[in-house]
Amino acid sequence: MSKKVHLQIDGRDIEAEEGMTVLQAAQSAGISIPTLCYHEKLQPYGGCRLCIVEAERNGSTRLAASCIHPVEPNQVIRTRSEKIDRHRKTLLELLMAHAPDSPKLQELAEEYGADRNRFEQEVAFCIHCGLCVRYCAEVKKLNAVGFIDRGIRKEISFIPEIAAKECNDCKDCFPLCPTSYLQAAFVLVESLAFPRNGK
Ligand code: SF4
Ligand code: FES
Repeated sequence: MSKKVHLQIDGRDIEAEEGMTVLQAAQSAGISIPTLCYHEKLQPYGGCRLCIVEAERNGSTRLAASCIHPVEPNQVIRTRSEKIDRHRKTLLELLMAHAPDSPKLQELAEEYGADRNRFEQEVAFCIHCGLCVRYCAEVKKLNAVGFIDRGIRKEISFIPEIAAKECNDCKDCFPLCPTSYLQAAFVLVESLAFPRNGK
């Protein structure tokens, strides 16, 4: 049986299991923390930093991404504060410069008072959460979609040889995408590389 870890989240005493992340412990207690790159079936990734919380231990406080931060005994966690909300607001404003029409981002922007026009728009649609790439690799074991390039030039790309065989019967990654870019990228590669019915 796994060891229990007692910690405090938002003033509540929580009993978690050793090895859980702070996000999992919070979710198991019904405390909601916003996420963009987390999925319960995938390895911890820690890419988007939206799930940041304040973690206090032995008198010092630091910001930590709750989806990769393990629970520690007697830790005091805050999931909302002025500092956290400011961080999330700025992050959402930056992401909305790339994907202003994403319903998921719009919903979060409303909650955190984020202004979608704060930063100059450089619409790229994909916000690099990696959910599609990791889900296809880790859960489906297909690797039909991957990242190409790095840094600001990074983008997802379907591998036509694999996608032609596997994707039409799957499409499990489509609903994971917070921006719907994935679906558009698939339709494009399908029409260029393996059109159905000769279209
Ligand atoms: S296409 Fe969508 S799911 Fe895939 S990395 Fe980009 S935003 Fe995330
Ligand atoms: S959900 Fe934790 S970093 Fe993205």
